[in-house]
Parts: sequence; C-alpha cells; structure tokens
Amino acid sequence: MTNGTNGISATGRAAGQAGRIGSGAVTAVRGTLIRFRGDPFLIGRDDAFVHCADGLLICVDGKVTAAGDYAELRDRLPDGVTPVHYPGQVICPGFIDSHVHYVQTGIIAAFGAQLIDWLNHYTFVEEQRFADGAYARRVAAAFCDELLRNGTTTALTFAAVYPDSVDALFEEATRRDMRIIAGKVLMDRNAPDALLDTAATGYDDSKRLIDRWHGKGRNGYAITPRFAPTSTPEQLAAAGQLWREHPDTLVHTHVSENVGEISWVRSLFPERTGYLDVYDHYGLTGPGAVLAHGVHLTGTERRRCAETGTAVAHCPTSNLFLGSGLFHVHDAKDPHHPMTIGLGTDIGAGTSFSLLSTMNEAYKVAQLANYPLDAVKAFYLATRGGAEALRLTDTVGSLEPGQEADFVVLDPEATPVLAQRTSRVSDIEELLFVLAVMGDDRVVRATYVAGALAHDRDAPRDAARDAKNGPGGPDT
Ligand code: GUN
Ligand code: ZN
Repeated sequence: MTNGTNGISATGRAAGQAGRIGSGAVTAVRGTLIRFRGDPFLIGRDDAFVHCADGLLICVDGKVTAAGDYAELRDRLPDGVTPVHYPGQVICPGFIDSHVHYVQTGIIAAFGAQLIDWLNHYTFVEEQRFADGAYARRVAAAFCDELLRNGTTTALTFAAVYPDSVDALFEEATRRDMRIIAGKVLMDRNAPDALLDTAATGYDDSKRLIDRWHGKGRNGYAITPRFAPTSTPEQLAAAGQLWREHPDTLVHTHVSENVGEISWVRSLFPERTGYLDVYDHYGLTGPGAVLAHGVHLTGTERRRCAETGTAVAHCPTSNLFLGSGLFHVHDAKDPHHPMTIGLGTDIGAGTSFSLLSTMNEAYKVAQLANYPLDAVKAFYLATRGGAEALRLTDTVGSLEPGQEADFVVLDPEATPVLAQRTSRVSDIEELLFVLAVMGDDRVVRATYVAGALAHDRDAPRDAARDAKNGPGGPDT
C-alpha cells in the first residue's frame, strides 16, 4: 500500500489544497469513505452507515460540496484538480471529544486516587497554575496540537476558573481554525480559595466571555459549573439564568460519576430527589446540556435525560482509571427512551487523547455488561453522536454536503502488527473494529480542518517546538 502523500507538501493551512473554483479553495481526497446519516442504535446499521470503498470527498472554501463514490463524483472535480489519494486508508469525519479538560493535560496518569481525592490532590493543584496566562497559553497550544495528532477536530472542554484560561484556548484554537467549545469553570464552594469565584463574578465573567467568543469564527461557549458539590444553589441559579439569556450556548458539567460523589450531592441538596434533579431544578438540563459520565444514573434519571434532550458524554478510560464504575451504553440507548450520547476522553482522569483508544475501552466496558458494542456504533459515538450531543449536527460530524470539512485519514497499516491484522479483514466493519481496538495516534495519517491539512503524521517533526510547547517545557 502506498502512503498517500501525493499532493501534500507539509503541514499547514495551504497544504492539501488541490485547486480553486473561481476564488474558492478546493480540497479533494480519495480513499475508503465512511460517515453516518443517523443513529445506528435507533435506525439500524444499514440506514445509518454510509460506506464507499473507493470514495471521493470534495470541499470548497472549507465546506463539503460532495461525498460519495469516486466513480460517480469524479466528473464533478474542477478542471485541474487531482484528489489527494489515500489508497486503502479510511476517510472519516473528524473525531468529536464530547468531554475533556484542557487544563488537566499536565496531570494525566496521576496515581492512586478516586474522584474526590484525585480532585483535591492533583486537579485543584494543577488548575491553580492557570492563573499564569503564559502557562495557560503554552498548555492550550500543546492541547490543540495533541487533538489534531489524534484526529480530533472538535472538542467540548473545561477551562479553569480564570477567564484568561478561556482566552488562551480560544486564541490557540482560532490560530488552527478548529471548532472548540469551552467555558470558564464556575465554583463558589468546596475548592481551594484561589479557585473560587462567586455567583455574581462567575456570572459576569462568563457573560463577558460569551460576548467575546461565542459564535466568533468556529468558537462556541459552554456555561460550565464544575459539578453540583462545588456550586451553591445561588451559583447554579445564576448559571441557569445565563443559559436562558444565551440559549444557543451549551451547558457543560458532570453528573453521577462516583458513588461517594452522589451521596455528597444528596447531603448538599436534600430537598432534591436526586443528582439530575439538582440540574433540572436550576434549568441546566435540555438540548445543549452535556453531562459527563452519568455512570450511576437511575432508570428514572435516564428517562428524564431522554425526554429533556440532555446529553451524556461517555468517558470509559476515565471511569476505569478512577474506578468510578461501568457506563451501560445499551441502557442509555434503550429504544423506548434513547439518550443522546457522545464519547469523551475526560483528560486528565482519562488516559488517552485518542478517540480510537476511547472506543476500545468503551467496547470492553460494554463487554462487561454482556453487550458487544460494534464498530459502526462506536465510530458513530465518536463522530455524529458527539455532534448531536453538542448540537452541531448541521455543522460537523457526518461530512454531509454543506457541513464544515473536518475529517481524518486513518492508516490500517500504521504498525506491523496492525498491518498483519488488517490484511485479513473481510469487510469494513471488521476493519473499523480492528482500528478501534488497536488504534491510537499512530493510525491518524492526516487530519484536515475546514478543508485544510492541519496534521500530517509523516511530515518531519520540529523537536524544539515540541519541547517548548509541552506543559512540562521550560519555565514550568
Ligand atoms: N467531577 C468534578 N470535576 C471533575 C473533573 O475535573 N474530572 C472528573 N473526571 N470528574 C469531575
Ligand atoms: Zn471531567
């Protein structure tokens, strides 16, 4: 198999563009194309999944204009445009990380604690470093680069409590033209003083950030109360009011991750019927609310999520790492009350930036409940499922004509052991399954954002720049 470098010179905004229509920049790529028309949990594999063994994707000015069989679409290529050919490689919508903390990039793999101790010993210490804007910018840059290396083109991420930490991330995302949704954390109790805001300052700072960033370029804002234990009722009420005033922003928080956490919420909010009811009461549920984890949601709470359109981000590497529990995806997708589900890495409790590795752990978690999560469903969760959770189905996630052209090219021969295994697959489902179970950043041959090449695995790396950008770089 060739490595598909035709036409790509190097990483960079201009690379990968194969021509122009009028004044429009054209990108065309050819390879095995997969995408989703709908939710395979609900409408079945055949209606949901689109697969072109020899596919063509044409993008003009950062948007998809055609996606389908090469033989049918080749005549629509503008004169002089030769598609970048990735023979045998899989072109897929860019991955969507539905829950991550960019400010925890530096503390991945912190030993020995479950949720509340882990927050106190590691997370709250690290997040205080983001009072330093220079540190925030360095981590934000490293985070965005790492997303692209892993084929993630959209992420919904927590920042720290400091508004500057939000500015740093949106500035770096804008430089890379990535679609990022982020928010300043709201916390007015049960955390170190240096990380606390108040109901009023949290509201004011968030409002200013919405005005500055929401809908500017590809940036979106999420109102971000950390979780019920670190916000007073006044702060949750203020967050609900802010969402009513800015209904096209998202709400991003955590729910029912750990049994100790759930007992704590019960003692802090004895007047509420349960954890989800706290958010419900303060107007923080509904389409556009993304709750991380939901491992221990009750059947009644799952039904309430389904009926309100509240989404859950399933974060299996984190749930295993912190010993939080096993999320039951088949219960969440109960056909009578299906919930909207995306996949999240939950860095830094999660252990990998790769949505492929996250699919791998999601498969194993589902296996422990005797539910074999197939590859079509797993890829759906990491692409269109995430777009549904983030209310972005018209924008990204399925490479429909008119959508923004964010996509990834996956290499089934990325390592010797992968190459020997994928040489024997009998169909696309088996190929995708092997990529999900064995894949990680090494498989991501190329990542395109808004039609432009943003990561080229095989381009020479700049070691000096890597060292400077890493969270552990100079002056840390
Ligand atoms: N619950 C509240 N804050 C956090 C966090 O930072 N990570 C995880 N995994 N759970 C949380
Ligand atoms: Zn989290």
